[in-house]
Amino acid sequence: MIREARDADLVEITALRNEVMPYLVSSVEGTRAAVNAMPEWAKLRWLVAEVDGRLVGWARAGLSLFTPEPGAADVGAAVLPEYRGRGIGSALLVEGVAHVKQIGAVTARGRAFDEPGILRWAERHGFAAGAGHAAQISVVDPRAIPGAPACPGHIRLVSFDEVDPRVVYDLEAATGPDIPAGVPLAPIPYEDWLGMTWGNPDLFRGGSVVALDGDVPVAYTLTVADLSTGRSWTNMTGTLRSHRGLGLAKIVKVEALHRSARAGITRAYTGNDATNAPMLAVNDWLGYQRAATQVTVARKL
Ligand SMILES: CC(C)(COP(=O)(O)OP(=O)(O)OC[C@H]1O[C@@H](n2cnc3c(N)ncnc32)[C@H](O)[C@@H]1OP(=O)(O)O)[C@@H](O)C(=O)NCCC(=O)NCCS
Repeated sequence: MIREARDADLVEITALRNEVMPYLVSSVEGTRAAVNAMPEWAKLRWLVAEVDGRLVGWARAGLSLFTPEPGAADVGAAVLPEYRGRGIGSALLVEGVAHVKQIGAVTARGRAFDEPGILRWAERHGFAAGAGHAAQISVVDPRAIPGAPACPGHIRLVSFDEVDPRVVYDLEAATGPDIPAGVPLAPIPYEDWLGMTWGNPDLFRGGSVVALDGDVPVAYTLTVADLSTGRSWTNMTGTLRSHRGLGLAKIVKVEALHRSARAGITRAYTGNDATNAPMLAVNDWLGYQRAATQVTVARKL
């Protein structure tokens, strides 16, 4: 049975996401906050698939948050491995696609694991990998990363505990649109960001770092963490264009990962566009190992 998700499902939804996509670090409270903080204009629907009273699949479908492209929507579905091959994922996807079509979307995108069976399944539903964009998910044990590179004397590192949210928002707004993603990117409004990012109970402020050049914020890295399972996810790292190539991304990430290790994190995940050469260079240097590849698939509606 496919139905709308409700608050009582959040424990099972979180467990399911943790099993299928362990890098999507989210506690139950984090998942609840993600649902509640979603801007109305995204018209997001969360769906679940239930078999004999057990929640075995989950999907979300709504307008894309981070691109100004008109009519862009995101659709995602996941099914527990032991329940695959029974049409549950297809039923979720069909429902999700119908929803985004109904709210006026003209393009739907999703991210499929780079596995032949999954890509064939997406193709059967009209989703093609034609754009050729992929995201690499990778993981490192933060206790084993290299020591910090020398930090220029005029640069000072502070954690998110010591900065105003506006500082982080402005860094994200200035650097986020430079992420190679296959679609144009644009910042979401500050009020929405406050709810979704700053208000996320899983935001690990002590393990998120801003680099200040004098008093000017110039680079940052943002970590979400589930300390109960020792996992973290670097949601974003950015350096202002004026300060790129100076080692600042390395410096803020090393600091954040050392802080994460001290807090008990043993698996620090991140995801990068496969063409993001500078970020991949930083992460390779840190010792990240590939954990999964996700291919962007898209269809017209
Ligand atoms: C990715 C980003 C954070 C890097 O910031 P930075 O402060 O310039 O990074 P660093 O100076 O610490 O390191 C950059 C590394 O990339 C390497 N590099 C730069 N351009 C490169 C290229 N085209 N190909 C390969 N390597 C490249 C540099 O040589 C350096 O590696 P090295 O120190 O081993 O020589 C910055 O480019 C940025 O803000 N981009 C937009 C936002 C983004 O894409 N964030 C990542 C989202 S997942």
